[in-house]
Amino acid sequence: MKIAVLTGAGVSAESGIKTFRDSNGLWEGHDVMEVASPEGFKRNPAAVLAFYNQRRRQLLTVKPNAAHFALAKLEKKHDVTIITQNVDDLHERAGSTNVIHLHGELLKARSTYDENLVLDWKDDLNLGHLCEHNHQLRPHIVWFGEMVPLIETAAQVVEKADAIIIVGTSMVVYPAAGLVQYSKPQAKIYFVDPNPSISENKRIKVFAEKASTGVPKVIELLQ
Ligand code: APR
Repeated sequence: MKIAVLTGAGVSAESGIKTFRDSNGLWEGHDVMEVASPEGFKRNPAAVLAFYNQRRRQLLTVKPNAAHFALAKLEKKHDVTIITQNVDDLHERAGSTNVIHLHGELLKARSTYDENLVLDWKDDLNLGHLCEHNHQLRPHIVWFGEMVPLIETAAQVVEKADAIIIVGTSMVVYPAAGLVQYSKPQAKIYFVDPNPSISENKRIKVFAEKASTGVPKVIELLQ
């Protein structure tokens, strides 16, 4: 069976990474538009780099949780693609091999000159770190107002899926939130979120609970 899994910040919450929309428009104490937009980067590149360096360092201290591991295990039986809005690497560290990062990756940097020039980057990223064309490197993150280059690829995965699992997302940020509308009408949808933004119906089964307990229940149903 082909399974598309859409994950958001909630799947990593129990690993200790804060979600966005529960902190009054502030994100780890920062105004989102200042640290996650091209304009913010133009205004104060050092502050933006410092913010991502802090997140990158935090990522090295956290671990995948039971939800990440359960999703990785699903690959043993099914053809699974994870489409995540998260920029952490916890799905990969849990063992998932097929992960699409819609909003980029914290552990990568890219050139401000050529968006296709992407490098692995595990250390602090600072002013003066340049690409091979001598342009400043920036975090490989899709900021507010930027295109989501992998959205077409993700839509094709959802289109082909026989089942969809959605975990820990408020489903308010487009285009990611619109992906479910590409699903086949007969594809069953499982939604895991303690504060679900979708209600249950014939097609959608809702698990109004944390990812660490809800995801293993979904996996059990699909085994
Ligand atoms: N398990 C599952 N879900 C949880 C848990 C948990 N332990 N804790 C919180 N949640 C849910 C919340 O109820 C909420 O519905 O996770 C969701 C988090 O929502 P958001 O913070 O809005 O995160 P997300 O949907 O991933 O945001 C999308 O917005 O800021 C941008 O680019 C950023 O990728 C991000 C995008």
